Amino acid sequence: MITTLPRCTNLTLNMNHQLLNRELAADDPWQLDTNPFERERHTQMLRLSLAQGSITNALEVGCAAGAFTEKLAPYCQRLTVIDVVARAIARARRRLKETPHISWIVSDVQQFSTNELFDLIVVAEVLYYLGDKAEMRAAVQNLVRVLAPGGHLVFGSARDANCWRWGHAAGAETVISMLNETLIEVERLECRSESVNEDCLLARFRKPVSAP
Ligand SMILES: C[S@@+](CC[C@H](N)C(=O)[O-])C[C@H]1O[C@@H](n2cnc3c(N)ncnc32)[C@H](O)[C@@H]1O
Repeated sequence: MITTLPRCTNLTLNMNHQLLNRELAADDPWQLDTNPFERERHTQMLRLSLAQGSITNALEVGCAAGAFTEKLAPYCQRLTVIDVVARAIARARRRLKETPHISWIVSDVQQFSTNELFDLIVVAEVLYYLGDKAEMRAAVQNLVRVLAPGGHLVFGSARDANCWRWGHAAGAETVISMLNETLIEVERLECRSESVNEDCLLARFRKPVSAP
């Protein structure tokens, strides 16, 4: 029993990496540039990201080929972009070309570590790739740790029901309740289309200035 758990986690991790790598080899991974649902989702994510005013130091988690990075970058004095797949970072970096205010890092959201604090973190359609709810919680805690007091976190995800249907451990509602344990939810909205697979929640959170 004790040795099965890590093996399962590694297996899930490897399968996820293979799937992600395959998707990231496509012309338009996840159709983030061409699908009207995804474009509207990015428009709403950008609106939520800009709601706090000017952005000094932002973190984007899970950039794929840079479709949202390209929208967010012009509004940030500094931007750190992380993704667990090297190909994602390479593609996003190529797309953004000469942008010295962006730092690119290949890292798993759970292991990402820095002494910096961010006044904005954006993490959308990423956390359901993690192996189980414990990993999702660890990732949430890691992100809350690097969020500056008074800073904002924009979260997005397919809803629980779709994530379960796709074989993931959990989705939006589960992670939103984890985030609500330490952050203050400021705004929430739903993006959906006619397709059953296109239904996500977006939420903006603020970190209390005197967080525990
Ligand atoms: C569906 S894309 C989402 C792209 C973008 N965030 C958006 O909302 O349009 C998921 C991205 O998250 C990355 N990802 C998945 N698991 C991750 C992890 N554990 N740590 C960091 N990035 C991860 C994938 O490699 C992929 O580029």
